[in-house]
Amino acid sequence: MNKLNQTNTTSRHSTSTKNSSSLASGQKMASTFSKPKTHPRENRRIGEPHLALANPSKATQELPKQAPALGNQITLTEFLKQQSLASNEIDQQRPTPPSSTQKAILQAKNLHKSYFKNKLEVSVLRGVDFAIETGEFVSIIGSSGSGKSTLLHLLGTLDEPDQGKIYFRSRRIDDLPSKKRDSIRSNDFGMIFQFYHLLPELTTLENVLTPAMISNSVFQYYRQKKKLVARAKELLELVGLSHRLKHKPRELSGGEMQRAAIARALISKPTLLLADEPTGNLDQKTGTEILSLLQHLNQEEKLTICMVTHDQQIAKETSRIVQLAEGKVQYEHYQ
Ligand SMILES: Nc1ncnc2c1ncn2[C@@H]1O[C@H](COP(=O)(O)OP(=O)(O)OP(=O)(O)O)[C@@H](O)[C@H]1O
Ligand SMILES: [Mg+2]
Repeated sequence: MNKLNQTNTTSRHSTSTKNSSSLASGQKMASTFSKPKTHPRENRRIGEPHLALANPSKATQELPKQAPALGNQITLTEFLKQQSLASNEIDQQRPTPPSSTQKAILQAKNLHKSYFKNKLEVSVLRGVDFAIETGEFVSIIGSSGSGKSTLLHLLGTLDEPDQGKIYFRSRRIDDLPSKKRDSIRSNDFGMIFQFYHLLPELTTLENVLTPAMISNSVFQYYRQKKKLVARAKELLELVGLSHRLKHKPRELSGGEMQRAAIARALISKPTLLLADEPTGNLDQKTGTEILSLLQHLNQEEKLTICMVTHDQQIAKETSRIVQLAEGKVQYEHYQ
């Protein structure tokens, strides 16, 4: 039976002090999942996240991006000037986030990233400043192509910025040798990818174990194998997949693959989970269940989470929304 369905009405802001060692009791934890306060219903997909999220009274400021109607005397130059003034106005109204340098588990400073395609430069990130505080559940939103995955890959040290710095617990990590970055990624970060990236030839259980196989030597892995397998099974129980241990990815549904990817991200007991569209390919009900699971991990297991999502309703359930646009953090909203 799917443990995620065994939800109760625990508040998202529960102050339970259950610690991560309680992962030993997957069943017990599964029964404590809290449902989101609201259920995503309609208009789940959004192209552009909106300023109105933060302040409905400013909703009209979202609208001026339309071209002037025919017959209107305004010139294109004037129109563009107005747009620029409007975005400056929006910029000034952006709430200043609390100084987070001290409490930040992860901090990005002035990140720039471009890709080159046929000698053509695609400038994706153009000065992203962003911090995640310990214990937060942050969502990053933005239109398709705005650089959300690029940013998450940089934060997770899977790629290097062209310019800028990334700090993990006040230690600069973007310029570390690749072995040290691998080690931080294996020990401290859990990654959930937009398209799961499960290995097709491995079973669900083996897929969950892969980070442990990679981060340990063969000898170390076999010495701990019993313990690791037990933990992988607990995690699969936690995400409601204990009946799919021997299935290969092609024998799983999209939601089940996503759950397996979440279990895999947790095998190394990360302190920070970086999740790219964990509900992106799922139906509404399954997406809500995955969100409940992430909320549970954040509130009860004290896991810090940074999640990319297109879904406004899902984003509203997190403690902060960060909007990416034009290569920068355009807006932050604390909820
Ligand atoms: N390896 C690459 N080479 C060239 N261009 C790339 C590469 N990776 C990403 N891009 C480009 O960078 C831009 C940002 O891509 P990214 O995947 O970060 O966007 P995204 O906000 O995650 O979009 P989506 O919501 O569709 O997942 C896109 O225009 C994409 O085409
Ligand atoms: Mg993406």
